[in-house]
Amino acid sequence: MIYSEKVMDHYTNPRNVGEIKDANGVGEVGNAKCGDIMKMYLKIEDNTIKDVKFKTFGCGAAIATSSIATEMIKGKPLSEALKLTNKAVVEALDGLPPAKLHCSVLAEQAIKAAIADYYTRQGIDPTPFVGEI
Ligand code: FES
Ligand code: FES
Repeated sequence: MIYSEKVMDHYTNPRNVGEIKDANGVGEVGNAKCGDIMKMYLKIEDNTIKDVKFKTFGCGAAIATSSIATEMIKGKPLSEALKLTNKAVVEALDGLPPAKLHCSVLAEQAIKAAIADYYTRQGIDPTPFVGEI
């Protein structure tokens, strides 16, 4: 088995799948390497991620990384969620095969895009917080 138990767990039983109807931050990103797509929905209150859901048209590694990434940012302040790296996500899953490492970038980027969307909706320039996406 080239996938860790944690990857298989999050792939077969992904957490936080779906969409949030009244999300106030939504981010959609595509993976240039494979064409897969991910959409991230955030419900943000008091600068904290109260709820998060995702949908992906992507591979198993994309599903597993997004699933664990949503668990890692739920209930966290935006500043902390913005620090989540794809490396940390991969470590939390006990690793990914090298050929699947690029899949973990989708979750990190989708979270950043959703937070940028939140700031934009508030009339705030997201660049100082999120950087260039
Ligand atoms: Fe579709 Fe591998 S790329 S099954
Ligand atoms: Fe596209 Fe994994 S192969 S995200």
